[in-house]
Amino acid sequence: MATIRMRNTNKRLTQEQEVQSFLDEQGVLYEHWDMEKLPNDLRDIFLLSDEKKQEILSIFDSEVSSLAKRRGYKEWDIVALSDATPNLDELLKKFEQVHVHTEDEVRAITAGNGIFTIKGDSGYFDVELSAGDVISVPVNIPHFFTLMENRQVVAVRLFIDASGWVAHLYEDPDFKS
Ligand SMILES: [Fe+2]
Repeated sequence: MATIRMRNTNKRLTQEQEVQSFLDEQGVLYEHWDMEKLPNDLRDIFLLSDEKKQEILSIFDSEVSSLAKRRGYKEWDIVALSDATPNLDELLKKFEQVHVHTEDEVRAITAGNGIFTIKGDSGYFDVELSAGDVISVPVNIPHFFTLMENRQVVAVRLFIDASGWVAHLYEDPDFKS
């Protein structure tokens, strides 16, 4: 389940209901997928062949279709990151810059963890995600994504148009790392 940390005050939200209400208020979609559906050989595996990625997408076909239908997403794929990823440190350095996109950034975590840092009404907040958490950072909202200490994640990504999914850097004097 996701937890929230307010960067200004260090206040944490850890109760499901308060996390859900807070994200609703910020316009951030937050849902769950049932990871019990994943067979053991697809759980906590961070080096995935194309076949395995396809298998995960098939298992969550109805969840993906529901999200796509409700929100207009047209394409989806799977991203897997871990210490086995070439240039992981460089990638993370690039990720950890505040930016915006011209469409939602949608991630359904199927293994590992990740953090979205998002600009909210009262400053930046971190959303710490684990397997089963689904989040959509709205279009044009400043944010960035990074990994947690375990440095591993598998996530389904959904796009309206993956080719237009570009990070536009957002210079923000309010952001303190
Ligand atoms: Fe992004």
